[in-house]
Amino acid sequence: MEFRGLRDDVYRRPLATALERLGIGPGWTCADIGAGGGDVSVALAEIVGRDGRVYAVDSDPAARDEAASAAAAFSQVIAITQAGEDLLLPEPVDLAFCRFLLLHVADPAVVLARMASAVRPGGWVVAQEPITSAGRIDGAPFSMPSARHPDIGALLPSLARDAGLVTVDAWAEAPAGAGPGPVADYLRLLTEVDPGDDPVVLPPLVTVVAQAPST
Ligand SMILES: C[S@@+](CC[C@H](N)C(=O)[O-])C[C@H]1O[C@@H](n2cnc3c(N)ncnc32)[C@H](O)[C@@H]1O
Repeated sequence: MEFRGLRDDVYRRPLATALERLGIGPGWTCADIGAGGGDVSVALAEIVGRDGRVYAVDSDPAARDEAASAAAAFSQVIAITQAGEDLLLPEPVDLAFCRFLLLHVADPAVVLARMASAVRPGGWVVAQEPITSAGRIDGAPFSMPSARHPDIGALLPSLARDAGLVTVDAWAEAPAGAGPGPVADYLRLLTEVDPGDDPVVLPPLVTVVAQAPST
């Protein structure tokens, strides 16, 4: 299956792999927590179709507006201003998803536990978070002083376990490149650093695909 909304996203591969692993399809209800600009919400909306629903949740009202406008063509997307720590959806969902969220929140365990309690019995929680310091620009480690937990990806499997979830699959994956291309463009966008011809390995994203207990 090709996920059209992710075509230009350098981190599209881990997401596409995770979504395939779930067997997500038309009619699913999903929540994208820390939806930001709404890229993932739109990709999910394309998959779940008009019979499905996607709650695009963000604590920042400006991000909520951005997600709502990115998803304007999809009546199945409902944008909500809410903190992950207070996550409360109108219905239990099949999938609670986050990407590049837990590194920014005060207590990642609290947010993951809220996500676990937002899914139906047997529902899915997928988290994709970076190990920032494992990224490299010309061999030197990345840093992200603005993030509260820049290396939270390294703790994801145990965070999922502590949230009462059963991990079905987990892995780490990093886009890499040298010279002009999407990896250099992404780095410039993220850090305003132009890597020129230097080799870049973006921070690996750890994916955890986990399931809530069935009963
Ligand atoms: C780096 S962006 C990630 C955007 C999107 N998930 C993606 O992968 O493209 C992080 C988003 O999380 C939101 N955020 C930060 N703390 C949050 C919290 N406690 N609850 C919900 N959203 C939060 C921010 O407002 C921002 O839009």
